[in-house]
Amino acid sequence: MGIDRFFFLLFFSVLVFNSIDITTAQIPGFISLDCGGQSNFTDDLALEWTPDNQIIYGITSNISVTNETRQQYQTVRYFPADSRKYCYTLNVKSRTRYLIRATFLYGNFDSNNVYPKFDISIGPTRWATIVISDANIIESQELIFLASGSTISVCLSNATTGQPFISTLELRPFNGSIYLTPFENQFFLSVSARINFGAENEDPVRYPDDPFDRIWQSDLVKKANYLVDVATGTDRVSTELPIDTGKDEQPPQKVMQTAVVGRNGTLTYRMNLDGFPGFGWAYTYFAEIEDLAPTETRKFRLVLPGAPDLSKPIVNIQENAQGTYRLYEPGFENISLPFVLSFKFGKTSDSTQGPLVNAIEISKYLKISDGSFDGAVAASLVSGYESLDWAQEGGDPCLPVAWSWLECNSDPEPKIISVKLSGKNLTGSIPSDLIKLSYLEQLWLDGNALTGPIPDFTGCPNLKIIHLEDNQLSGDVPSSLADLPNLSQLYVQNNLLSGEVPSGLLNKNLVFNYTGNVNLSKGSSGGRRNRNIFIGLAVGAAALFLGFITSCLLLRQRKKYPKPEPKHGMPVMSNAATEAAQCFTLSELRNATKNFEKKVGSGGFGTVYYGKLNDGKEIAVKLLESNNVYQGKKEFANEVTLLSRIHHRNLVQFLGFCQEEGKDILVYEFMHNGTLKEHLYGPLARARGIKWIKRLEIAEESAKGIEYLHTGCVPSIIHRDLKTSNILLDKNMRAKVSDFGLSKLAVDGTSHVSSIVRGTLGYLDPEYYISNRLTDKSDIYSFGVILLELISGQEAISNESFGINCRNIVQWAKLHIENGDIQGIIDPALGNEYDIQSMWKIAEKALMCVQPHGNMRPTMSEVIKEIQDAISIERGVEAGARERSSDEISRHSILNMGSLDLCGNNDQDLSIDESITRPGPR
Ligand SMILES: *[C@@H]1O[C@H](CO)[C@@H](O)[C@H](O)[C@H]1NC(C)=O
Ligand SMILES: *[C@@H]1O[C@H](CO)[C@@H](O)[C@H](O)[C@H]1NC(C)=O
Ligand SMILES: *[C@@H]1O[C@H](CO)[C@@H](O)[C@H](O)[C@H]1NC(C)=O
Ligand SMILES: *[C@@H]1O[C@H](CO)[C@@H](O)[C@H](O)[C@H]1NC(C)=O
Ligand SMILES: *[C@@H]1O[C@H](CO)[C@@H](O)[C@H](O)[C@H]1NC(C)=O
Ligand SMILES: *[C@@H]1O[C@H](CO)[C@@H](O)[C@H](O)[C@H]1NC(C)=O
Ligand SMILES: *[C@@H]1O[C@H](CO)[C@@H](O)[C@H](O)[C@H]1NC(C)=O
Repeated sequence: MGIDRFFFLLFFSVLVFNSIDITTAQIPGFISLDCGGQSNFTDDLALEWTPDNQIIYGITSNISVTNETRQQYQTVRYFPADSRKYCYTLNVKSRTRYLIRATFLYGNFDSNNVYPKFDISIGPTRWATIVISDANIIESQELIFLASGSTISVCLSNATTGQPFISTLELRPFNGSIYLTPFENQFFLSVSARINFGAENEDPVRYPDDPFDRIWQSDLVKKANYLVDVATGTDRVSTELPIDTGKDEQPPQKVMQTAVVGRNGTLTYRMNLDGFPGFGWAYTYFAEIEDLAPTETRKFRLVLPGAPDLSKPIVNIQENAQGTYRLYEPGFENISLPFVLSFKFGKTSDSTQGPLVNAIEISKYLKISDGSFDGAVAASLVSGYESLDWAQEGGDPCLPVAWSWLECNSDPEPKIISVKLSGKNLTGSIPSDLIKLSYLEQLWLDGNALTGPIPDFTGCPNLKIIHLEDNQLSGDVPSSLADLPNLSQLYVQNNLLSGEVPSGLLNKNLVFNYTGNVNLSKGSSGGRRNRNIFIGLAVGAAALFLGFITSCLLLRQRKKYPKPEPKHGMPVMSNAATEAAQCFTLSELRNATKNFEKKVGSGGFGTVYYGKLNDGKEIAVKLLESNNVYQGKKEFANEVTLLSRIHHRNLVQFLGFCQEEGKDILVYEFMHNGTLKEHLYGPLARARGIKWIKRLEIAEESAKGIEYLHTGCVPSIIHRDLKTSNILLDKNMRAKVSDFGLSKLAVDGTSHVSSIVRGTLGYLDPEYYISNRLTDKSDIYSFGVILLELISGQEAISNESFGINCRNIVQWAKLHIENGDIQGIIDPALGNEYDIQSMWKIAEKALMCVQPHGNMRPTMSEVIKEIQDAISIERGVEAGARERSSDEISRHSILNMGSLDLCGNNDQDLSIDESITRPGPR
C-alpha cells in the first residue's frame, strides 16, 4: 500500500515555497499547474505546464484507469482525508480579474475505487463540493474573481469519502473591464454554463482561439439534461468571415462564427445549471452571420417561463450591433435562475427570420466570505515563521476549516479560541500577535525555546488555560495574569523566571505550577493556605479532565503528524468522523464494561460487550479483533467514517470510538432485545416467538433503514452483509440495522467493482459472487432471504431443514411458493395468527428480491410498499372480526406437495465455497 510511503512523506515533508510566480510563462500571468507532475512541459495548445511539487505537500500519484491522454491528467496530487485543509497559494495582481479553474480526474489513482467527495474553497469562501461519480470523467470548476490582495489560495478539505485530490489548477488573467460586475467586491462568479452554439464538433473552444482560455463547451456534447428539447427546425450556421468581437466580454471569433437559427420561428433548450437555483449573471452573445436580403428582418424575444417581464425587449441583432458580423451582447447582470433552466427565443410576428444565437454564458453569484475575525493577526503571526510548516498551511486561519494548530469558534465570523504550538521549536520572544487574539481561551506554547518576558495578556480576557512551561522565559510573572477573570490553569514551570510570584495569582482559584524557576520565590503572601487547598482539589479534577483530553488529543495529533509506523499507518478518521463521533478513552470504556466482562455478541470482526456509562446510558462496545490488524484497521476507518455521518431511526446509533493501546473500539447504543436471529430461532424463539404482524413491522423498519442507506446517503451505501443477526431490536422491539463494517460506498447508478467478495453464506447475492459487481441490488437479495426467514422461521442455510441435497432457503422456498404451497413454508410457530393474503404478498416480494439478476429485483422502496400493504391487511384483519386465515381462499392454488423433495438436485447457484465467508460466528 502507498500508505506508509504517504506518511513517510508527510512526516518528512519540508515546505520550500508557498507561492509561485511564473513570470517566464509565454502568456503573461497564465499559471498552469500540473498537480502531481514531475516536470515542465508544453501541451498541444502551447500552454506551459509546471509541476506543483514546490508548492504544497501531499502525495503524488499516477492515475491508473482512464482514457485521457493529456499529460497533465496522468497524475494527481492527493491529501489525507483528515480534518485539515490543504492549500495552494498563487500570486496574483491586485485589482485584476482572473479566471481560476480547478479540474479533477479521479482515474482510480489510489486503486481503491472509492469515488472521492470533498470541498474546495478559495480563501475563506467555500467554492464547491467536488463529487466524483465516474473515474474517467474530468470534474471541473471555474470561478471569476477580482483579486483583492497579492495572493489567492485554493484549498481542499472536508473529505466525506475517499481522499481529496486535484489534477490541474489554472489561473488566467483578464484585461480591461471584462466580467466587471457591480457586485464583484461581495460576490465571485461561479461559472455554470458557457456554450458555443452551432459548434463544428464536440471539442470545446479555448486557448489559443480564446486568448483568455475560457472553455466554450460545444452544443453537440451529449450529457444528462444538457441542451435537450431542441425545437424542430433548428439549423446550424457558420461563417468564415471575421467577426468584430473586441468589446464587452470579448468572446472568441471562433465561437461567434457559428450559431443556431430557429427556422420555424423558435429556438428552445432545457438544461441543468450546476450550482443553481440562485442569483446569477447571464449573458447572450449574438452576431448576425447570415447575409439577409434588405427585405428580411430578424427580430425575436427571449422567453423564460415564469418571467414575463424579461420577454419584453426585442433583439434585432443587426440594429443593436450596428451592422452584421459584429458582437451584440445583451444579458442580465443579476437574475434569479432555477436549477433546470428552460429557455426559448421566439421571433416576433413581424419578423421574417427566426432567432439566431451564437453563445450564452451563465454564472452564479457566490458570496465572498469576510473571513475570520482574526485573519489579519493570524497572517501577521505566521509571516514571522515562513520556513516552518505549521505556518504554511495557507488560506484563512479558520475557514472553511481551521489550521491544524488552531481552534476557532463557530461564529459567522469565527474567532480563534485556541492556539496550540507546543514543542514547535519556537525561538525568540512570545509573538506579540498572540496577545491580539482577543477571544483566545487557550494558549499552548510549552516545550519551545522561547526567551524574553511573559507579555501582558490583558488583551485576551477569555484566557482560561496558559501553557508556557519548559521554555527559557525570563523576567517576572506579570501580576496582570491575576486579572484574567477566567484563568483556571497557568503553567510556567521550568523557565528562567525570577522575582516573586504575584500574590494575586496565589490567591486565585487556579491550577498554577511555577516550579523549576530557580530565581522565582513564593514571597510571603497570606494566600498560600488558600492555594494549597485548591491545588489539592483542582489538580485532582484537572488530572481527570486532562486525562480525557489527552487521549483524544493524542489521537488527533497522530492524525495530523503521524509517525511513520505501519501499525498506525492508516488515515483512520475522516473529518466527518471527528466532527460527529465522540472519542472515548479506554479507561472510560473499561469502567463502563467492567473490564469487558459481559459479552453480548460477536461478529463483524469483533466481540461486543455490554457497558454502562457514568451517566447511566447503556452502550454496546465492539472491540475489534486484533489478529487481523490490517483488515481491522480498514474496517475501523470504514465504520467510523460511515457511521458518524449516518443517522436514522432504523439504524443502530453510533456513539463514538476509541483507539488506544492498539485497540480499535466502536461504541453503539445498546439494543436490549438482541438480534432478530435470536428471536426467530433458538431458545428465545420458543419461549416467546414473535407474531406475524410483529415480523412485518420488523421487516418494515429494517427495510426503511436499508432504504435510507441506499437512497438517503450520497453517495449511496451498500450494506453488503444484511442478515438476521445484523437486525437488532431495542427495548420496544423496534428494529434497527447494525454492522456497517462491510459497507462500501457506492455511487448512484454505477456499480462497484471490488476484488474481495464479502458477505455471509446464505445471504450472498449469487450475481455479485460471480461478477464481483456490487450494487444495492445485492442488499435486496439478502433482504429477500431475511423475508423468507421471517415467513418460515428457517435459517438461511441448514443441513437438515430443506431436504436432501438442499441447504439453502431460497431454493426451498422458491419451489414451494411457485407451486402454490405457501403453507409448506410458513413457520409453524405462527399458528393461525396471520392472514394468508399478507403472507402471499411478502412471499412473492421475497422471491422477486432473490431473482438471480439484480436488475429484476425490486428497489427497497418497492419492497417497503409491499410490506406496508401486508401490514394494513393484517391490521384490517385484526380490527375486524378475524377470519381464520386457513379458511380463506388464496388467489393461488394450494397444492399438496406431500413429502416431495422440493429442492431437487440443482443447487449449482449455491456451490459457493464456504471459505469465502468471513470468520466469526454469526
Ligand atoms: C519550469 O518552469 C518554471 C517557470 O517557467 C521555471 O522557473 C523552472 O525553473 C522550470 N523547471 C524546470 C525543471 O525546468
Ligand atoms: C508515475 O509514472 C512515471 C512514469 O512511468 C514514473 O516515473 C513515476 O515514478 C510514477 N510515479 C508514481 C508516484 O508512481
Ligand atoms: C472517456 O470515457 C468517458 C466515459 O467512459 C467519456 O465520457 C469521455 O468522453 C472519454 N474521454 C475521452 C478523452 O475519450
Ligand atoms: C463537509 O461536507 C459535508 C457534506 O458535504 C457538509 O454537510 C458539511 O457542511 C461540510 N463541512 C464544512 C465544514 O464545510
Ligand atoms: C419546421 O420546419 C420544417 C422545415 O424547415 C418543417 O418540415 C416542419 O414541419 C416545421 N415544423 C413545425 C412544427 O412547424
Ligand atoms: C530547532 O531549531 C534550531 C535552531 O533553529 C535547530 O538547530 C534545531 O535543529 C531545531 N530542532 C528541531 C527538532 O527542529
Ligand atoms: C509542576 O511541574 C513539575 C515539572 O513539570 C512537575 O514535576 C510537578 O509535578 C508539577 N506540580 C504540580 C502541582 O502539578
